[in-house]
Amino acid sequence: MSNITDYNEVSRSYDSVRKAPDAHILKGLMENLTGKNTEDLDIIDIGCGTGNYSEYFFQFEPRSLCLMDASEGMLNKAKAKLTASCRTQLSFKQAVLPVIPYEDNSFDAGMINHVLHHIQKNPNGKSFPAVVQTLNETHRILKPGGVLTIIAETPENLEGNWYTNLVPETTKRWRNILPTHKQIKRMLEESGFSLKSTYKTLMASYLPNYDNLEGPLHESWRNVNSFWSLCTEAEIQNMKQNLTQIKNEGTLQAYFEKHDKIYSVGAYDIFAAIKL
Ligand SMILES: C[S@@+](CC[C@H](N)C(=O)[O-])C[C@H]1O[C@@H](n2cnc3c(N)ncnc32)[C@H](O)[C@@H]1O
Repeated sequence: MSNITDYNEVSRSYDSVRKAPDAHILKGLMENLTGKNTEDLDIIDIGCGTGNYSEYFFQFEPRSLCLMDASEGMLNKAKAKLTASCRTQLSFKQAVLPVIPYEDNSFDAGMINHVLHHIQKNPNGKSFPAVVQTLNETHRILKPGGVLTIIAETPENLEGNWYTNLVPETTKRWRNILPTHKQIKRMLEESGFSLKSTYKTLMASYLPNYDNLEGPLHESWRNVNSFWSLCTEAEIQNMKQNLTQIKNEGTLQAYFEKHDKIYSVGAYDIFAAIKL
């Protein structure tokens, strides 16, 4: 279960604002690193949510596609989206990470997208034991030579979000639950993966309403990004006051342009590794 977000609740609105704009990059990485076409791959989507990434892969008819998540609400949305194909062996599993209840050496490829920071609230920003366990489990269920791709926000990416300066205390708290780029690399290697490549995705379009500059004033806009769940009520009120003042002064666009650095620091990091 996520420690910071009620995903059964979020499942109602998730798809109205979340997409999978970089799914094609994961497909390319999986095919290149396994040397197989998607149609020959057994794939697991770990923390699949409403299945947006799986939906992209499904159209290429992988040999099998397994969607796993802790939230029944999110899984139900995924089930409604992916209907049986004659070729792909499709399955859904409700399970709570770090446990991944599958046999050893079951999958050619696994993906963990936008999930790592939910597995466990990190108390000190230094060690992430549940993430390590999750990577160990993922290593176990992949076949030798199998590929793991991860999409994760790191503290480095966070610097590029235009709105974080509006809530500095929340940002500090959020930074502590995000493993850094270096920590993710190290944890992958310690779990027995060989890291093959890392990328920065420049696409803020994972949150298509990212550049709605009045968005933070509205609960519906904030609710689909777990970041805001770490705000206290006082921080929200303070942010609203400041943002309204900037808006009334007519400098909101200038504020956005000054603080948005997605194109230099990247919106998210993508990691691709193989099981040795
Ligand atoms: C931000 S959503 C990402 C969903 C999907 N991967 C995507 O990128 O659209 C995070 C997902 O992780 C799931 N999750 C959080 N903690 C989990 C845990 N401990 N075990 C399994 N799933 C978890 C949530 O239920 C939610 O569906």
